[in-house]
Amino acid sequence: APWEKQVRHSSTPRRPNGFSVLVTGAAGFIGSHCCLALKKRGDGVLGLDNFNDYYDPTLKRARQNLLTKHQIFIVEGDLNDAPLLTKLFDVVPFTHILHLAAQAGVRYAMQNPQSYVSSNIAGFVNLLEVAKTANPQPSVVWASSSSVYGLNTENPFSERDRTDQPASLYAATKKAGEEIAHTYNHIYGLALTGLRFFTVYGPWGRPDMAYFFFTKDILQGKPIDIYQTQDQKEVARDFTYIDDVVKGCLGALDTAEKSTGSGGKKKGPAQLRVYNLGNTSPVPVGRLVSILEGLLNTKAKKHVITMPRNGDVPFTHANVTLAYKDFGYKPTTDLATGLRKFVKWYVSYFGIQPRVKKETQNTKESG
Ligand code: NAD
Ligand code: UGA
Repeated sequence: APWEKQVRHSSTPRRPNGFSVLVTGAAGFIGSHCCLALKKRGDGVLGLDNFNDYYDPTLKRARQNLLTKHQIFIVEGDLNDAPLLTKLFDVVPFTHILHLAAQAGVRYAMQNPQSYVSSNIAGFVNLLEVAKTANPQPSVVWASSSSVYGLNTENPFSERDRTDQPASLYAATKKAGEEIAHTYNHIYGLALTGLRFFTVYGPWGRPDMAYFFFTKDILQGKPIDIYQTQDQKEVARDFTYIDDVVKGCLGALDTAEKSTGSGGKKKGPAQLRVYNLGNTSPVPVGRLVSILEGLLNTKAKKHVITMPRNGDVPFTHANVTLAYKDFGYKPTTDLATGLRKFVKWYVSYFGIQPRVKKETQNTKESG
């Protein structure tokens, strides 16, 4: 069947000992970037995505078109479709799963809590159920989140800090994912690596995230809301540039051990790891806005709200020593540099020209 042929072709590695990776959430922001990076170095990649309309699916289709140009095929389907997943594993001997599909966003959980439970808990379990019986058993690298630190006050956050105070349902489902991973590792010998991403931004990014809609609203002369903490301080985020995150994902895949198989008893325990992938340099949201104002050559109409946004944490700040030690993770892009690349993409993608300041060509690329 043509479908099977596309699936096989896309997932076949082109380099010796290359991986064959199932990337879930491949039409998403981080997923599409990871697919391209894996393909570029000769790994086989098959995408899975349900193209849901949490944000404009046109953007997901545009990312898909880009992937298609690089001969990366995305199977349209849901994490909860067990027969579909089983069929994929019957056709392809995946060496790895890069599991990025999820219901993201902190605020939307107040409108649609079930979508978080369905994708982030039930969907993850469904994927692991199929992975545990697959032959070979793949190593799994999956997206956790900085939000698991919740109201943690240690600064910076290290992987050993407490994660028992989630501030949103999104955070609670990401934390649940880490507990679920533990049981699949323990009982079935699956090798699992969780990556706690910190507010990732960049070209092809998510329209529901602040940097993206701030850009839109500033360009359209609309007011933007800037939330504060409980004690009316500035909220800060450890904004992390997409290329740094992609390097981290590939590093985690490269150093992932093989799964040891059922029980893990005979062959020794499989690996279970969790890493922060942040930028190690938190920036107040006000500073994010002023960088955008400069890049867009437009003053923002700022509306300061002297309260936290529902579900928000006051700050995030990653300690990445562990990821550096284990796979050389080292973020290299500061917020101003990364936002310049984002704005460049934004104006070209949406065909906006006039108000953007002519940037003096800075060729010192960091990625
Ligand atoms: P995204 O929304 O752009 O990508 C997720 C993709 O998964 C989407 O294309 C969506 O259609 C797909 N999807 C969702 N539910 C699905 C399901 N049930 N079945 C199949 N496909 C499904 O988000 P992103 O920013 O690329 O995030 C990727 C991962 O990283 C997510 O797990 C997210 O929670 C996590 N994360 C992201 C950030 C960030 O700042 N971007 C930070 C921390 C963690
Ligand atoms: C982001 C992603 O949206 C989550 O999917 C992800 O899991 C999380 O990062 C993470 O790192 O784990 P968040 O940091 O809340 O979550 O990202 P945004 O929604 O873009 O908000 C960034 C900052 O802007 C927050 O401090 C928020 O308070 C602020 N903000 C947001 C405003 O001041 N005004 C707004 O209108 C929206």
